[in-house]
Amino acid sequence: MKFLIMGPPGAGKGSQAARIKNHLDITSISTGQMFRDAYKAGDPIGIKAMTYIEDGNLVDDKTTNNIVWQRLTSDEQLENFILDGYPRTVNQAKALDDMLDKLDTKLDGVLNILISEDVLFERMEQRRVCKDCGATYHLTFKPPIKEGVCDVCGGALYQRQDDKHESVKNRLEIYKNKTKPLLDYYDKKGILYNINGMQSFENVHEDIMLVLEDL
Ligand code: AP5
Repeated sequence: MKFLIMGPPGAGKGSQAARIKNHLDITSISTGQMFRDAYKAGDPIGIKAMTYIEDGNLVDDKTTNNIVWQRLTSDEQLENFILDGYPRTVNQAKALDDMLDKLDTKLDGVLNILISEDVLFERMEQRRVCKDCGATYHLTFKPPIKEGVCDVCGGALYQRQDDKHESVKNRLEIYKNKTKPLLDYYDKKGILYNINGMQSFENVHEDIMLVLEDL
């Protein structure tokens, strides 16, 4: 099974990708997380990417397409994957089609998580992320057991620079202008599935699993 998980910043893509991964034998690939990991490792790609990310801008298509291609072809070819946060532009979507053609495969579906702008800003404000393992928390709906400490690995929690209000505003504008048009692109292919993201984590997950069972 090969599918995308899409939606505006804070829709719950990463949270749901992690849940799906726990239920199915599937690899989750998040371009945002790959850039953050590369930055943490001192990799020049990550250092360059962070100059875009902190202000809420997109990393250029060429760099982004390259890291996805490397990931899809590293080790053995991946049989099952979720792409979280990629593609985000029409150019990236076309590049992904080309990559999948080369690998003689195709997408089974695109999950689009819908949330309102109010909720999106609130979620970004309340999100905390583990510096070490990337696990995500929400101060109200998914707080860590011990304040400021990751339940999974004991790492310190921090607020992402791009979760500051001005960056979120910019990310949302970019989403509307560059990423939202992709929904039409996938709808025309007949593989787009909308999911109501304004429910509990569990209910969003259940709706996603219902779609995946039918793919
Ligand atoms: P990325 O990390 O992918 O950021 P994003 O797409 O903006 O998405 P987020 O991670 O902010 O949100 P999410 O939808 O995963 O929500 P989450 O599950 O965390 O990318 C970061 C940056 O990298 C981009 O801005 C760009 O610069 C660059 N980049 C990445 N991919 C790129 C690409 N393809 N091209 C170019 N540049 C690229 O949830 C959010 C919060 O809400 C959490 O606190 C969570 O606990 C909470 N929450 C989630 N679901 C629920 C729920 N149902 N109820 C209550 N709370 C919930």
